[in-house]
Amino acid sequence: MQNRQWLINGNPRGRAMRSDDFLRNEVELSPLGEGEVRIKVEYLSFDPSLKGQMENIGYADATALGEVMRASGVGEVVESKAAFVPVGAKVMGLLGWQDYATLPGDQVEIIENHDLLTAYLGPLGGTGLTAYFGLLHNGKPKEGDMLVVTGAAGAVGSMVGQIGKIKGCDVVGVAGGPEKCAWIVNEVGFDAAIDYKNDDVKKAIKEHCPNGIDIFFDNVGGPVLDIALARIALYARVIICGAISRYEMEKPPPGPANYFNLVFKRAHMMGILVSDHAKEFPQARAEIAEWMRQGKITYKEDIQEGFDNIPATLNRLFSGQNFGKQLLRMD
Ligand SMILES: NC(=O)c1ccc[n+]([C@@H]2O[C@H](COP(=O)([O-])OP(=O)(O)OC[C@H]3O[C@@H](n4cnc5c(N)ncnc54)[C@H](OP(=O)(O)O)[C@@H]3O)[C@@H](O)[C@H]2O)c1
Repeated sequence: MQNRQWLINGNPRGRAMRSDDFLRNEVELSPLGEGEVRIKVEYLSFDPSLKGQMENIGYADATALGEVMRASGVGEVVESKAAFVPVGAKVMGLLGWQDYATLPGDQVEIIENHDLLTAYLGPLGGTGLTAYFGLLHNGKPKEGDMLVVTGAAGAVGSMVGQIGKIKGCDVVGVAGGPEKCAWIVNEVGFDAAIDYKNDDVKKAIKEHCPNGIDIFFDNVGGPVLDIALARIALYARVIICGAISRYEMEKPPPGPANYFNLVFKRAHMMGILVSDHAKEFPQARAEIAEWMRQGKITYKEDIQEGFDNIPATLNRLFSGQNFGKQLLRMD
Protein backbone atom coordinates (compact mmCIF):
# COMPACT_ATOMS: atom_id res chain seq x y z
CA MET A 1 0.00 0.00 0.00
CA GLN A 2 1.22 3.52 -0.83
CA ASN A 3 1.73 6.23 1.83
CA ARG A 4 1.71 9.90 0.85
CA GLN A 5 3.87 12.10 3.05
CA TRP A 6 5.11 15.68 3.41
CA LEU A 7 8.80 15.81 4.30
CA ILE A 8 10.75 18.67 5.91
CA ASN A 9 12.76 20.31 3.14
CA GLY A 10 13.83 23.66 4.62
CA ASN A 11 14.59 25.57 7.78
CA PRO A 12 12.27 28.61 8.02
CA ARG A 13 14.16 30.29 10.86
CA GLY A 14 13.95 34.07 10.66
CA ARG A 15 11.42 34.13 7.83
CA ALA A 16 7.92 33.10 6.78
CA MET A 17 7.50 29.52 5.59
CA ARG A 18 7.66 28.85 1.85
CA SER A 19 6.08 26.10 -0.22
CA ASP A 20 9.54 24.60 -0.91
CA ASP A 21 10.07 24.04 2.84
CA PHE A 22 8.06 20.84 2.31
CA LEU A 23 8.55 18.04 -0.17
CA ARG A 24 5.79 15.71 -1.28
CA ASN A 25 6.79 12.06 -1.14
CA GLU A 26 5.23 8.67 -1.67
CA VAL A 27 6.52 5.37 -0.27
CA GLU A 28 5.39 1.76 -0.11
CA LEU A 29 4.35 0.82 3.44
CA SER A 30 6.66 -1.77 4.98
CA PRO A 31 5.36 -4.71 7.07
CA LEU A 32 4.58 -3.93 10.72
CA GLY A 33 7.16 -4.78 13.35
CA GLU A 34 6.33 -6.55 16.62
CA GLY A 35 4.57 -4.16 19.03
CA GLU A 36 3.75 -1.65 16.28
CA VAL A 37 0.43 -0.29 15.08
CA ARG A 38 -0.60 1.27 11.77
CA ILE A 39 -2.95 4.22 11.94
CA LYS A 40 -4.95 5.78 9.12
CA VAL A 41 -4.67 9.50 9.84
CA GLU A 42 -8.07 11.20 10.00
CA TYR A 43 -7.38 14.68 11.44
CA LEU A 44 -4.16 16.64 11.88
CA SER A 45 -3.54 19.38 14.42
CA PHE A 46 -1.74 22.58 13.41
CA ASP A 47 0.26 24.39 16.07
CA PRO A 48 2.62 27.38 15.76
CA SER A 49 5.30 25.23 17.42
CA LEU A 50 5.54 23.10 14.26
CA LYS A 51 7.51 25.93 12.67
CA GLY A 52 9.73 26.16 15.75
CA GLN A 53 10.40 22.42 15.58
CA MET A 54 11.56 22.75 11.95
CA GLU A 55 13.91 25.52 13.12
CA ASN A 56 15.45 23.34 15.82
CA ILE A 57 15.39 26.16 18.35
CA GLY A 58 15.83 23.73 21.17
CA TYR A 59 12.64 23.09 23.11
CA ALA A 60 11.65 19.89 21.31
CA ASP A 61 13.51 16.87 19.93
CA ALA A 62 15.60 17.91 16.93
CA THR A 63 14.13 17.50 13.45
CA ALA A 64 16.11 16.75 10.30
CA LEU A 65 15.66 17.58 6.64
CA GLY A 66 14.02 14.66 4.83
CA GLU A 67 11.99 13.39 7.79
CA VAL A 68 8.21 13.29 7.79
CA MET A 69 6.83 16.56 9.16
CA ARG A 70 5.94 15.97 12.78
CA ALA A 71 2.40 16.74 13.98
CA SER A 72 -0.22 15.49 16.38
CA GLY A 73 -3.23 13.80 14.92
CA VAL A 74 -6.04 11.37 15.50
CA GLY A 75 -6.93 8.35 13.42
CA GLU A 76 -8.04 4.74 13.29
CA VAL A 77 -5.89 1.68 13.85
CA VAL A 78 -6.02 -0.41 10.65
CA GLU A 79 -3.37 -3.00 11.56
CA SER A 80 -1.91 -3.95 14.92
CA LYS A 81 0.87 -6.06 16.37
CA ALA A 82 0.36 -4.50 19.83
CA ALA A 83 -2.04 -6.59 21.91
CA PHE A 84 -3.35 -3.61 23.88
CA VAL A 85 -4.27 -1.52 20.78
CA PRO A 86 -6.93 -3.33 18.75
CA VAL A 87 -7.74 -2.77 15.08
CA GLY A 88 -10.63 -0.30 14.86
CA ALA A 89 -9.51 1.72 17.91
CA LYS A 90 -9.43 5.50 17.51
CA VAL A 91 -6.15 6.88 18.78
CA MET A 92 -4.15 10.08 19.11
CA GLY A 93 -0.42 10.51 18.85
CA LEU A 94 2.39 12.09 16.88
CA LEU A 95 1.06 10.80 13.56
CA GLY A 96 2.81 13.26 11.23
CA TRP A 97 1.88 14.68 7.83
CA GLN A 98 1.07 11.39 6.07
CA ASP A 99 -1.79 9.04 5.21
CA TYR A 100 -0.59 6.23 7.49
CA ALA A 101 1.50 6.45 10.65
CA THR A 102 3.42 3.43 11.94
CA LEU A 103 4.23 3.72 15.65
CA PRO A 104 5.02 1.56 18.67
CA GLY A 105 1.67 0.76 20.31
CA ASP A 106 2.73 2.40 23.57
CA GLN A 107 3.17 5.76 21.81
CA VAL A 108 -0.53 6.18 21.03
CA GLU A 109 -3.44 6.85 23.36
CA ILE A 110 -6.82 5.25 22.77
CA ILE A 111 -9.76 7.66 22.57
CA GLU A 112 -12.84 5.95 23.98
CA ASN A 113 -15.37 8.69 23.22
CA HIS A 114 -15.44 8.94 19.42
CA ASP A 115 -17.74 11.99 19.57
CA LEU A 116 -14.83 13.92 21.08
CA LEU A 117 -12.24 12.77 18.54
CA THR A 118 -11.14 16.24 17.35
CA ALA A 119 -11.51 17.69 20.87
CA TYR A 120 -8.44 15.60 21.73
CA LEU A 121 -6.49 17.94 19.43
CA GLY A 122 -8.14 21.06 20.93
CA PRO A 123 -9.58 21.58 24.41
CA LEU A 124 -8.56 18.09 25.55
CA GLY A 125 -5.26 18.21 23.66
CA GLY A 126 -2.11 20.33 23.74
CA THR A 127 -3.92 23.63 23.44
CA GLY A 128 -6.40 23.03 26.26
CA LEU A 129 -3.67 21.63 28.47
CA THR A 130 -1.41 24.61 27.78
CA ALA A 131 -4.19 26.98 28.83
CA TYR A 132 -4.97 24.85 31.89
CA PHE A 133 -1.42 24.61 33.26
CA GLY A 134 -0.31 28.07 32.12
CA LEU A 135 -3.20 29.75 33.86
CA LEU A 136 -3.74 27.54 36.92
CA HIS A 137 -0.17 26.52 37.70
CA ASN A 138 1.62 29.74 36.76
CA GLY A 139 -1.14 32.34 36.89
CA LYS A 140 -2.69 31.16 40.17
CA PRO A 141 -6.00 32.95 39.48
CA LYS A 142 -8.12 34.21 42.37
CA GLU A 143 -11.73 35.34 42.42
CA GLY A 144 -11.91 38.92 41.13
CA ASP A 145 -8.48 38.92 39.43
CA MET A 146 -8.23 40.93 36.23
CA LEU A 147 -6.99 38.55 33.53
CA VAL A 148 -5.90 39.82 30.12
CA VAL A 149 -5.10 37.28 27.40
CA THR A 150 -3.66 37.86 23.92
CA GLY A 151 -4.38 35.63 20.93
CA ALA A 152 -7.73 35.49 22.67
CA ALA A 153 -9.78 34.03 19.83
CA GLY A 154 -7.21 31.31 19.21
CA ALA A 155 -7.15 27.74 20.44
CA VAL A 156 -5.09 28.41 23.57
CA GLY A 157 -6.34 31.95 24.22
CA SER A 158 -10.05 31.14 24.10
CA MET A 159 -9.49 28.32 26.61
CA VAL A 160 -7.49 30.59 28.93
CA GLY A 161 -10.36 33.08 29.03
CA GLN A 162 -12.93 30.41 29.80
CA ILE A 163 -10.87 28.77 32.54
CA GLY A 164 -10.32 32.26 33.93
CA LYS A 165 -14.10 32.82 34.03
CA ILE A 166 -14.59 29.45 35.79
CA LYS A 167 -12.10 30.65 38.44
CA GLY A 168 -13.97 33.94 38.92
CA CYS A 169 -11.68 36.31 37.02
CA ASP A 170 -12.72 39.37 35.00
CA VAL A 171 -11.45 38.50 31.53
CA VAL A 172 -10.38 40.80 28.72
CA GLY A 173 -9.22 39.29 25.42
CA VAL A 174 -7.01 40.90 22.79
CA ALA A 175 -7.68 39.58 19.27
CA GLY A 176 -7.41 40.64 15.64
CA GLY A 177 -10.54 42.02 13.98
CA PRO A 178 -14.19 42.68 14.88
CA GLU A 179 -15.44 39.17 14.07
CA LYS A 180 -13.05 37.44 16.47
CA CYS A 181 -13.67 40.11 19.14
CA ALA A 182 -17.45 39.69 18.86
CA TRP A 183 -17.11 35.89 19.14
CA ILE A 184 -15.06 35.93 22.35
CA VAL A 185 -17.53 38.27 24.07
CA ASN A 186 -20.87 37.03 22.72
CA GLU A 187 -20.23 33.29 22.50
CA VAL A 188 -17.21 32.45 24.62
CA GLY A 189 -18.12 34.62 27.61
CA PHE A 190 -15.21 37.06 27.91
CA ASP A 191 -16.16 40.30 29.67
CA ALA A 192 -14.57 42.50 27.02
CA ALA A 193 -12.44 42.38 23.89
CA ILE A 194 -9.79 44.67 22.44
CA ASP A 195 -9.18 44.58 18.69
CA TYR A 196 -5.44 45.16 18.44
CA LYS A 197 -5.73 45.79 14.70
CA ASN A 198 -8.25 48.64 15.03
CA ASP A 199 -8.40 49.87 18.66
CA ASP A 200 -6.03 52.04 20.66
CA VAL A 201 -4.78 49.14 22.82
CA LYS A 202 -3.15 51.33 25.46
CA LYS A 203 -6.32 53.35 26.00
CA ALA A 204 -8.55 50.27 25.93
CA ILE A 205 -6.46 48.39 28.52
CA LYS A 206 -6.58 51.44 30.78
CA GLU A 207 -10.37 51.62 30.43
CA HIS A 208 -11.01 47.90 30.96
CA CYS A 209 -8.45 47.42 33.73
CA PRO A 210 -8.72 50.53 35.93
CA ASN A 211 -6.97 48.76 38.84
CA GLY A 212 -4.33 47.14 36.67
CA ILE A 213 -3.80 43.63 35.32
CA ASP A 214 -3.37 40.79 37.84
CA ILE A 215 -2.64 38.11 35.24
CA PHE A 216 -1.35 38.78 31.75
CA PHE A 217 -1.36 35.59 29.65
CA ASP A 218 0.64 36.31 26.53
CA ASN A 219 0.54 34.32 23.29
CA VAL A 220 1.78 37.12 21.05
CA GLY A 221 4.64 39.27 22.45
CA GLY A 222 5.63 42.57 20.81
CA PRO A 223 4.04 45.97 21.47
CA VAL A 224 0.96 44.65 23.32
CA LEU A 225 3.18 42.88 25.87
CA ASP A 226 4.99 46.14 26.48
CA ILE A 227 1.74 48.07 26.92
CA ALA A 228 0.47 45.43 29.36
CA LEU A 229 3.68 45.52 31.43
CA ALA A 230 3.05 49.20 32.05
CA ARG A 231 -0.41 48.35 33.46
CA ILE A 232 0.32 45.39 35.75
CA ALA A 233 -1.07 45.43 39.29
CA LEU A 234 0.87 44.73 42.48
CA TYR A 235 2.07 41.06 42.58
CA ALA A 236 0.94 40.47 38.99
CA ARG A 237 1.75 37.26 37.13
CA VAL A 238 2.91 37.69 33.51
CA ILE A 239 2.80 34.34 31.74
CA ILE A 240 4.77 33.98 28.54
CA CYS A 241 3.13 31.15 26.62
CA GLY A 242 3.99 32.22 23.08
CA ALA A 243 5.20 35.16 21.01
CA ILE A 244 3.71 34.52 17.60
CA SER A 245 4.30 38.12 16.47
CA ARG A 246 8.03 37.32 16.26
CA TYR A 247 8.02 33.80 14.82
CA GLU A 248 8.68 35.05 11.27
CA MET A 249 11.12 37.85 12.12
CA GLU A 250 14.70 37.78 10.90
CA LYS A 251 16.03 39.25 14.15
CA PRO A 252 14.39 39.22 17.58
CA PRO A 253 12.68 42.55 18.28
CA PRO A 254 14.00 44.73 21.14
CA GLY A 255 12.93 43.59 24.61
CA PRO A 256 9.91 45.20 26.28
CA ALA A 257 10.91 48.63 27.53
CA ASN A 258 8.42 48.49 30.40
CA TYR A 259 9.87 45.34 32.00
CA PHE A 260 11.19 47.36 34.95
CA ASN A 261 7.61 47.78 36.17
CA LEU A 262 8.02 44.15 37.37
CA VAL A 263 10.23 45.61 40.11
CA PHE A 264 7.83 48.33 41.19
CA LYS A 265 4.94 45.85 41.23
CA ARG A 266 6.92 42.94 42.71
CA ALA A 267 5.54 40.89 39.83
CA HIS A 268 6.53 37.53 38.31
CA MET A 269 7.15 36.98 34.61
CA MET A 270 7.49 33.31 33.69
CA GLY A 271 7.40 30.93 30.76
CA ILE A 272 5.23 27.86 30.48
CA LEU A 273 5.98 24.73 28.46
CA VAL A 274 3.07 22.33 28.48
CA SER A 275 5.27 19.23 28.10
CA ASP A 276 6.60 19.82 31.65
CA HIS A 277 3.19 18.76 32.95
CA ALA A 278 2.83 15.48 31.01
CA LYS A 279 2.38 13.39 34.17
CA GLU A 280 -0.62 15.52 35.16
CA PHE A 281 -2.37 15.39 31.75
CA PRO A 282 -4.92 12.68 32.71
CA GLN A 283 -6.17 14.65 35.73
CA ALA A 284 -6.30 17.91 33.74
CA ARG A 285 -8.13 16.25 30.83
CA ALA A 286 -10.70 14.81 33.22
CA GLU A 287 -11.35 18.25 34.71
CA ILE A 288 -11.61 19.97 31.30
CA ALA A 289 -13.92 17.18 30.05
CA GLU A 290 -16.15 17.73 33.08
CA TRP A 291 -16.31 21.48 32.37
CA MET A 292 -17.25 20.65 28.78
CA ARG A 293 -19.97 18.27 29.96
CA GLN A 294 -21.34 21.04 32.21
CA GLY A 295 -21.43 23.43 29.24
CA LYS A 296 -18.78 25.72 30.75
CA ILE A 297 -16.37 25.37 27.83
CA THR A 298 -17.13 26.12 24.21
CA TYR A 299 -14.69 25.81 21.33
CA LYS A 300 -14.46 26.51 17.65
CA GLU A 301 -12.72 24.39 15.04
CA ASP A 302 -11.38 25.59 11.71
CA ILE A 303 -11.23 22.44 9.60
CA GLN A 304 -9.39 22.53 6.27
CA GLU A 305 -9.57 19.59 3.88
CA GLY A 306 -7.17 17.28 2.12
CA PHE A 307 -3.59 16.08 1.96
CA ASP A 308 -2.58 18.63 -0.70
CA ASN A 309 -3.61 21.52 1.57
CA ILE A 310 -1.47 20.50 4.54
CA PRO A 311 1.47 22.95 4.09
CA ALA A 312 -0.81 25.91 3.30
CA THR A 313 -2.91 25.13 6.37
CA LEU A 314 0.08 25.65 8.68
CA ASN A 315 0.50 29.17 7.27
CA ARG A 316 -3.03 30.12 8.31
CA LEU A 317 -1.84 30.38 11.93
CA PHE A 318 0.74 33.02 11.07
CA SER A 319 -1.58 35.13 8.93
CA GLY A 320 -4.41 34.96 11.47
CA GLN A 321 -6.70 33.34 8.86
CA ASN A 322 -7.58 30.54 11.27
CA PHE A 323 -10.69 31.16 13.32
CA GLY A 324 -10.63 28.54 16.05
CA LYS A 325 -8.42 25.49 16.54
CA GLN A 326 -6.70 24.80 13.21
CA LEU A 327 -7.31 21.25 12.02
CA LEU A 328 -7.29 19.42 8.70
CA ARG A 329 -9.38 16.44 7.68
CA MET A 330 -7.52 13.98 5.49
CA ASP A 331 -9.06 12.74 2.27
N1 LIG B 1 4.29 27.24 25.71
C1 LIG B 1 3.60 26.18 25.30
O1 LIG B 1 3.71 25.06 25.84
C2 LIG B 1 2.65 26.38 24.15
C3 LIG B 1 1.82 25.32 23.71
C4 LIG B 1 0.90 25.58 22.69
C5 LIG B 1 0.86 26.85 22.09
N2 LIG B 1 1.72 27.82 22.53
C6 LIG B 1 1.68 29.18 21.95
O2 LIG B 1 0.35 29.67 22.10
C7 LIG B 1 0.10 30.62 21.07
C8 LIG B 1 -1.26 30.30 20.43
O3 LIG B 1 -1.19 29.04 19.77
P1 LIG B 1 -2.52 28.37 19.18
O4 LIG B 1 -2.18 27.00 18.77
O5 LIG B 1 -3.64 28.60 20.13
O6 LIG B 1 -2.78 29.22 17.86
P2 LIG B 1 -4.02 30.16 17.57
O7 LIG B 1 -4.04 31.24 18.59
O8 LIG B 1 -5.23 29.34 17.37
O9 LIG B 1 -3.62 30.77 16.15
C9 LIG B 1 -2.60 31.71 16.03
C10 LIG B 1 -3.17 33.14 16.15
O10 LIG B 1 -2.10 34.03 16.40
C11 LIG B 1 -2.48 35.33 15.98
N3 LIG B 1 -1.36 35.95 15.29
C12 LIG B 1 -0.66 35.50 14.22
N4 LIG B 1 0.30 36.37 13.87
C13 LIG B 1 0.20 37.41 14.73
C14 LIG B 1 0.92 38.64 14.89
N5 LIG B 1 1.93 38.97 14.10
N6 LIG B 1 0.53 39.48 15.89
C15 LIG B 1 -0.49 39.16 16.71
N7 LIG B 1 -1.21 38.00 16.61
C16 LIG B 1 -0.85 37.15 15.63
C17 LIG B 1 -3.68 35.17 15.04
O11 LIG B 1 -4.82 35.64 15.75
P3 LIG B 1 -5.41 37.12 15.46
O12 LIG B 1 -6.26 36.97 14.23
O13 LIG B 1 -6.17 37.43 16.69
O14 LIG B 1 -4.23 38.01 15.21
C18 LIG B 1 -3.78 33.66 14.86
O15 LIG B 1 -5.10 33.23 14.68
C19 LIG B 1 1.28 30.57 20.13
O16 LIG B 1 2.14 31.64 20.43
C20 LIG B 1 1.95 29.25 20.46
O17 LIG B 1 3.32 29.26 20.15
C21 LIG B 1 2.60 27.61 23.54
